[in-house]
Amino acid sequence: MAAPLRLGLAGLGTVGIGVVQIVQKHADLLAARAGREVVITAVSARDRTKNRDADLSGYAWEVDPVALAQRDDVDVFVEVMGGHEGPARDATVAAIAAGKDVVTANKALLAHHGHGLALSAEAAGRVIRFEAAVAGGIPVIKALTEGLAANGMRRVMGVMNGTCNYILTRMEDAGLPYAQVFEEARQLGYLEADPNLDVGGIDAGHKLSLLAAIAFGTRVAFDSVELEGIGAIMINDIRHAADLGYRIKLLGVAQVTGRGLEQRMTPCLVPVSSPLGQLSGGTNMVVLEGDSVGQVVMRGAGAGMGPTASAVMGDVMDIARGMRMPTFGMPATQLAVPVAAAVTSASAWYLRMMLVDKPGALAKVATALGDAGISIHRMRQYDHTDAQAPVLIVTHKATRDDVNDALARMSKTGVVLGDPVALRIEEV
Ligand code: NAP
Ligand code: HSE
Repeated sequence: MAAPLRLGLAGLGTVGIGVVQIVQKHADLLAARAGREVVITAVSARDRTKNRDADLSGYAWEVDPVALAQRDDVDVFVEVMGGHEGPARDATVAAIAAGKDVVTANKALLAHHGHGLALSAEAAGRVIRFEAAVAGGIPVIKALTEGLAANGMRRVMGVMNGTCNYILTRMEDAGLPYAQVFEEARQLGYLEADPNLDVGGIDAGHKLSLLAAIAFGTRVAFDSVELEGIGAIMINDIRHAADLGYRIKLLGVAQVTGRGLEQRMTPCLVPVSSPLGQLSGGTNMVVLEGDSVGQVVMRGAGAGMGPTASAVMGDVMDIARGMRMPTFGMPATQLAVPVAAAVTSASAWYLRMMLVDKPGALAKVATALGDAGISIHRMRQYDHTDAQAPVLIVTHKATRDDVNDALARMSKTGVVLGDPVALRIEEV
């Protein structure tokens, strides 16, 4: 049997302890499948005194993750600390410089620094693997880089933030307002330390940008992802959407058109009966469309100890077996610089606004839409409160630019109170 593969594990939180548990529980299985033992030699976290519900006595402790990454008895540096600067970045850079392979669950790190890290790793003959960074336990990176490697990818899309999907489905199921469910999610420990990473769509945007890089052979372009979070979604939006036969999902779509790379992560209405519409709770779904394979749909747990550690260990097993691949599926030096393109595809739109309840108000809104070239498909006025009238409009197909134009015109009419909500209706 070959020499054991030795892991240095930086981070002993949800994911890190999940990795410890798999290595300890499945030692024989891992050895049989990899043809060599997989062992942890050293670990690092901030607080050595914390009770972590795991036996760490057999592992050396390093206070500094950079020192851990440089240890002679470490072959693979496993980074499960998080954060796109500071220790996670410093230790990853140090690991590559010290000749170690890297496995990480850190989408923020790769969305911000993936190209530079990939260049360094490949120049040093090292690999960086990141299955756990996108859609938790779903092996979507493996599907794109291996099973679908012979396809020209047309589109990648999906629901990739379990917390947002939990909040949206819980609002619908329990009829609760956003603020109350957000608080529930916090109590359950679902939210990232900075909740805006989840509800602002940033975490899901990180994931989409990584998938797009692999799918389209481009450098990671997180900065050009059109991002919109779920914070403006009200329980009434969810009810109205349901009345119309839709559910609201934080949906990511990336594709290359004649104009360049389009990437968006925004709340959308999807048909209740579609696979995406049926997705509930913290589950993720990724849809991959290739020119030969057609559509492939993958669904599973997008977060949590077991699923995320499963993905980390899948990467470790590939390294143990000697499977080596460039970080983004082709050499980093060959990744194209993407031309960022604004999303111009037309769709129907859901518009919800509060109007002053006075004669001619609706007519002014209809005129603003008409002047922006948008045709109204359906319109409803809901229960009035005092002098305000909540209005819901479903448009015929229009582009984002047309909708922005219409919203700008509406804001000048003096009859729209607050900011209207505009959600794309995606016929997936
Ligand atoms: P977590 O529970 O907060 O754990 C983070 C761990 O990193 C803790 O053990 C912490 O030490 C350690 N750490 C933080 N800063 C450190 C430093 N400066 N030096 C040494 N150790 C440090 O986080 P997590 O949920 O496991 O997530 C880890 C990574 O996986 C993140 O990149 C996250 O985005 C990603 N991820 C998580 C999930 C999930 O379901 N949780 C899913 C997919 C991807 P202490 O314990 O001593 O504080
Ligand atoms: N905050 C992320 C989510 C964790 O809710 O999906 C998994 O990446």
